[in-house]
Amino acid sequence: MIRFYMEKDYDAMSYRAASFIAAQVLAKPTSVLGLATGSTPIGMYNELAKKCADKKITFKAVRTVNLDEYYGLSPEHDQSYRYFMNKNFFDKIDIDKANTNVPNGQNPDPVAECARYDALIDSFGGIDLQLLGIGRDGHIGFNEPGDAFIGNTNYVKLTEDTIDANSRFFASADDVPRYALTTGIRAIMQAKKILMVVNGEAKAKVLEEAFFGPITPANPASILQLHADVVVCGDAPAMAYIAEKHPEVLEK
Ligand code: PGA
Repeated sequence: MIRFYMEKDYDAMSYRAASFIAAQVLAKPTSVLGLATGSTPIGMYNELAKKCADKKITFKAVRTVNLDEYYGLSPEHDQSYRYFMNKNFFDKIDIDKANTNVPNGQNPDPVAECARYDALIDSFGGIDLQLLGIGRDGHIGFNEPGDAFIGNTNYVKLTEDTIDANSRFFASADDVPRYALTTGIRAIMQAKKILMVVNGEAKAKVLEEAFFGPITPANPASILQLHADVVVCGDAPAMAYIAEKHPEVLEK
């Protein structure tokens, strides 16, 4: 089942998304959360940090696995995803950092790192709730559009579109790493629940195609149509095409 929540703006989207994660952690304090970076979830992470500061939830027994990491950046690099997660979330909540995991972008053997990461996720018994954003090209994690879905954690070359989209965070496009490590489709699809957050009109078309178009590796997010429990939480501009073409699917 896929449920679509259209919220009026970014703050309302963030609040709604945070309430889903909070419910997960309340229902199962030992949850394994699959987490994501990007500009979209920052507001949601802030909401969760507030709930934690107010003692409404605790992350003390939660374990996390992040979706992806740039290859070649150290954890201290201010554009690495480990740095992002510490700054935007882990440093603001009561989680034990030892329970937080991000692929190691500095492992000299990226293929071995991918295998290590899959084994780690499997050793946790998989993911209870996977948070996802969606790229302008339909990517989830760094699973970029291609000829085939890739199951395992993999070492990928980033597309020009992703390099362009992410260059806003670097001094120039030349500084954006060309390769990344990303959880594959298997761990994502095996997650018990999926929460996708999406904001802004630039995502409206790819989002509608992902959930109402063909299931194709040309739009990696489209595979989520095969998942049994997906919540899509978007602001009004991101949900515009879905609201226009399929108004009946929106939650009231
Ligand atoms: P964004 O990235 O939240 O910065 O738009 C989402 C993604 O690329 O998955």
